[in-house]
Amino acid sequence: MLVSLAGLIGACCRVTWLLWLYLVVMSLLIVLGIVFTIFAFAVTNKGAGQALSERGYKEYRLGDYSDWLQKRVTDRKNWNKINSCLADSKVCTDFHDKYLNTSLTEFYQAHLSAIQSGCCKPSDDCQFQYVGPTNWTRGDGAPANPDCNLWDNNLKTLCFKCQSRKAGFIDNLKSSWKKVAVVNIVFLIFLIVVYSVGCCAFRNNIRDKLDPSFSSS
Ligand SMILES: *[C@@H]1O[C@H](CO)[C@@H](O)[C@H](O)[C@H]1NC(C)=O
Repeated sequence: MLVSLAGLIGACCRVTWLLWLYLVVMSLLIVLGIVFTIFAFAVTNKGAGQALSERGYKEYRLGDYSDWLQKRVTDRKNWNKINSCLADSKVCTDFHDKYLNTSLTEFYQAHLSAIQSGCCKPSDDCQFQYVGPTNWTRGDGAPANPDCNLWDNNLKTLCFKCQSRKAGFIDNLKSSWKKVAVVNIVFLIFLIVVYSVGCCAFRNNIRDKLDPSFSSS
């Protein structure tokens, strides 16, 4: 906004140095915007929920997502903040209430959000027995997925320590970033058009200064 204001004053009051400032800073901002948008696309390109056969929901594995996002999200300080945020959001309490009286077949058809799938139920490959959406009985086998041992039927625990919880969050983050990146592209195109107009204005301004007879022609 400040840069645009500088450009506006520069154009209206014919202050050449302000126009210069506008053009230089604006070109830097546009380049920065393009770099950020490419980065956002690159980071959100990798990883997606895994579709399971005969399930309405997908499951999420932390290792599928970009290393950069994984590092940022699993960083202890960041994760503590995200974790308390997720706990406050009552995602799993809502999930528990919504599917409380659902039969297993109906539950399998449920369209769960990434966070619900990752946090509020054990992974499918644990092969736990369904009692309720947040109440599962362990089988006898020793599942390979380490998340299975972290599951607890307590509503305050569920799969909150699981890797799938982080994966569900990253998947959510990923979709938001994708949207931001698309909005960014539209915004950048608009900015570039306005910038080109600004460049023309600047050129005319200089030309008028060099040869004022041009402005009347
Ligand atoms: C899970 O279901 C069983 C059987 O209905 C019940 O005994 C148990 O208390 C339930 N556990 C929780 C945490 O709700």
